[in-house]
This record gives sequence, structure tokens and C-alpha cells, in this order.
Amino acid sequence: MRIQDQPGDAIGVIVEGFDHTGASDADMDVLKNAVHTKKIAVLKGQDLSPQEFLALGRRLGRPETYYEPMYHHPEVTEIFVSSNVPENGQQIGVPRTGKFWHADYQFMPDPFGITLIYPQVIPAKSRGTYFIDMGRAYEGLPEALKKEIDGTYCRHSVRKYFKIRPHDVYRPISEIIEEVERKTPAVRQPTTFTHPMTGETVLYLSEGFTVGIEDRDGEPLDEELLKRLFEATGQLDETFTHDNIHLQGFEQGDLLVWDNRSLIHRARHTTTPEPTVSFRVTVHDERRLHDGIGAA
Ligand SMILES: [Fe+2]
Repeated sequence: MRIQDQPGDAIGVIVEGFDHTGASDADMDVLKNAVHTKKIAVLKGQDLSPQEFLALGRRLGRPETYYEPMYHHPEVTEIFVSSNVPENGQQIGVPRTGKFWHADYQFMPDPFGITLIYPQVIPAKSRGTYFIDMGRAYEGLPEALKKEIDGTYCRHSVRKYFKIRPHDVYRPISEIIEEVERKTPAVRQPTTFTHPMTGETVLYLSEGFTVGIEDRDGEPLDEELLKRLFEATGQLDETFTHDNIHLQGFEQGDLLVWDNRSLIHRARHTTTPEPTVSFRVTVHDERRLHDGIGAA
């Protein structure tokens, strides 16, 4: 296994010669450390069945199965499928996922630390995923803004981007909304937390899932504060040229592993949809997202 910095980029490493079946525990620790410190690891030359992909994920942690079954791989339920390519006339997984800034499972009480994406069908033109490192983004905030959010909390919800399921057709929208709020009520997290592996301060919010900000006593703060934070971190830049935004490319055989604590991401938007399929496995590493989760 050889690890080198991604050329020309502030984040990311390229990993050559990685084989999860032959990797020692020490190799896995080195890889995990690279993910936590460099944020993205691109494993080159991977040729894995869905079962093997899951086995690779298990070397990094405990898999989390997505809570909505319509996203599951038909054979390996731990795999989340994003696809606009029908198989034998059947929709597998869900098309057009993640076209908004988010951290995975940010709307859940116990989000996982690591996301693995294994692209299967790669679009010819608009390949790649956008990322923002929210640790670096926090560092770059004006001191006054850092002070303003000190001790505050954010609320995160799936409600803006919840996707209607096949069995929701003909259901009243009010009933679906009521179900979403009951099954996945908004969760509250500190606006910033300390990354348990690196000690960085991470600004934990996203335009897709963060729906409110409040002070330490739970009193809602002006929504305009959230807007300023989205703006300052680059999430409102529709040209994707903001300094904080990193476009991660990939090719066939690449498997991306990233730090879901620090990074928010967004699928690349296209006006003309191209065939795209990717598999995702998500895992909990040794620690919770931050030390405030699960603490008494
Ligand atoms: Fe995602």
C-alpha cells in the first residue's frame, strides 16, 4: 500500500496497491488515519463485488444500514444505491441523490464517522463530487462570527429533501410530512464540535439539512445567522468556484473513503442527466461523531 498526497490539492490522498483482504490491522490504522487527517482517500484499482465492498467497509468500522429500504442494494442491504439506470426494467436504489450540501446522516441522532463511495457507472462529462472541509471553513470565519456562534446549537432535519417513496403515491402530503416528523424528528447538535480524532473544531451545519440555530437555552436565533454561515463557508456559491470548494474527480476502479465529520458534500449538478450509479457503505469508527453524543 502506497499513500501520497493528491497532487495540487489541499485535501485528499491517493492510495495505490490497497487490498482489503491482505491489509494488516496496522495498514487499516494507517488508512484510517489518512482519512481523518487528509479527509479523503482515493483507493485505486478496486474491483469488488457488492459483498466484497461491504467486507472492505467492515475493516473500517461498523456498518450503518440506511433507514429507508428503497435505497438498499437488493442483495446487500447495507449498501445504499444511487442510480438512474434501471436493471431489467426495474429501478434499483434511488436516482438523483444528494444534489445539495450535506453531511451523511446529519439529520440522525448518531451519525457515523466514515463514508465509502464506490462509483459503478461513471458519467462521461460531469463526473466528480463537491466537498467542503468544515474544519478549514471554520478556521476561515471572521472572529466576530466565530464568537457569535460560540455555545449555540443547530437543528438538522431531513424534511427539505425527503424523497417520496413508491408507496407514498396517493397519500396526502400532510400525512407524509407528519410521518417524517414522527420517524425522524429534527435533531440538535452543537454548532461546532471538536473532532475526536484530530482535535480540529468542525462547523457542523449544511444548507441541505440544517433548519434552525438556537442559543444555549434553546431560544431560536435569527435565521439570517444561518444564511451568513452558509454564505461564508461557500455553500451558496452556485458557480462552485468558492475557495472552500474542492471538486473530487474519480475514474473506474476508484473507491472514495472520506471523513463524514469534517466534510460536507454535494453531487455535481447536471442539466442533461447522464447514466450514473454508485454504491455507498457507511461505518461507525471507534468514536461517536463527537464526544457530546452519548455523554451523560
Ligand atoms: Fe451524501
